[in-house]
Amino acid sequence: MPRLTITTDKKNFEVPVGSSIIDVCENEDTSILFGCRDGACGACMVRVLENPQNLSPISDQEQDFLEAMAARDDERLACQCRVLGNVTVEVSQ
Ligand code: FES
Repeated sequence: MPRLTITTDKKNFEVPVGSSIIDVCENEDTSILFGCRDGACGACMVRVLENPQNLSPISDQEQDFLEAMAARDDERLACQCRVLGNVTVEVSQ
């Protein structure tokens, strides 16, 4: 199973392929926040530190939101991406 590492919390989890980061965070005690779970509030933004290719591709909706938020190239919405392989993220500041 892929390993999701959250450096902000110094935690990592083995998760089933296709898991939503936000679902993992909801079930574990992590510092990644969430609100709408629909890509509309930006509360769940994370920086992807390692292996961004191991997350599901960015949808048009997520891309539009990230652009509107002037997000960095390495930022994603945790509620919108799924874990396909080992990946490391941190909470965006
Ligand atoms: S929880 Fe609102 S954008 Fe992810």
